[in-house]
Amino acid sequence: MERIGFIGTGEIAAAMVAGLTGRGHQITVSERNGAMAAALAAQFTDVAVAPNELVIADSDVVFLCLLAGVARDVLPGLTFRADQSVISVMVDVPLTDLKALCAPATEIAITIPLPSIAVGGSALPVFPDSPALQRLFGDTDLIIPCAAEAALNAHFAATALASPILDQMREGARWLAALTGDETASEQYVATVFTGFLRSMTENPETSFTDLLDSLATEGGLNATLRTHMRKAGAIDALIIGLDGLKPRLGLSEKPG
Ligand SMILES: NC(=O)c1ccc[n+]([C@@H]2O[C@H](COP(=O)([O-])OP(=O)(O)OC[C@H]3O[C@@H](n4cnc5c(N)ncnc54)[C@H](OP(=O)(O)O)[C@@H]3O)[C@@H](O)[C@H]2O)c1
Repeated sequence: MERIGFIGTGEIAAAMVAGLTGRGHQITVSERNGAMAAALAAQFTDVAVAPNELVIADSDVVFLCLLAGVARDVLPGLTFRADQSVISVMVDVPLTDLKALCAPATEIAITIPLPSIAVGGSALPVFPDSPALQRLFGDTDLIIPCAAEAALNAHFAATALASPILDQMREGARWLAALTGDETASEQYVATVFTGFLRSMTENPETSFTDLLDSLATEGGLNATLRTHMRKAGAIDALIIGLDGLKPRLGLSEKPG
């Protein structure tokens, strides 16, 4: 049994709580957002709500799930302990700042959860490697220790792939639904097509994106035709330019080191 606390009870904290509940832990979430905290406590018997100070006092592992600006205001007023693990999920708060904000705690790591952590099977890049994160999520999710903070920050940038790619899938499903008249079936169809491709990669780590693309490259085929059109229209260039545009905010140069 672990005593786990969440400072900041928003979207990502709720997903992490959903992933942790029912496993014999004691989970305490902070009072804001009040509606979210109350809903979690009502839904899960192992979740309690407390003020920030008590969340820290009652926890051996503390997840920081605040927006960066709020964290810089709130954390200096809280009393951390040397014997507790702190795991931040926040973009824009580097490890050096966290060490100052959470002293005397020294076991401090940054990880990048995504909402799918609620059901398990998600990827959790982390720097530095965190025994607490391994204990809590190692059985259910893929933990990816990064060699340096810059490498972790590169993963933060890569998480931004999710929204534009889902957006394309949604538009493709809408295009299909306009022809079939069934929006739900169209979304399920598109999702299932991609689930199948991605499953073949997760079940066989030797399979690469290039392997999958090669299997869809029949000359003159529908896939090859649309892919060539998208590349010529600048879709891939726009993606790379957009990712590069995130580098300054994340302190990234060409090669994370
Ligand atoms: N969402 C994601 O998929 C995701 C993924 C990876 C990392 N992150 C990171 O996770 C952090 C939180 O993101 P989010 O999407 O969960 O944002 P969010 O839904 O806005 O959650 C932030 C929470 O902080 C609460 N808060 C504000 N002031 C507080 C205070 N003084 N004490 C305690 N809690 C306070 C807010 O409550 P009120 O609503 O009452 O202000 C809100 O519940 C961000 O740093 C983000 O970069 C998010």
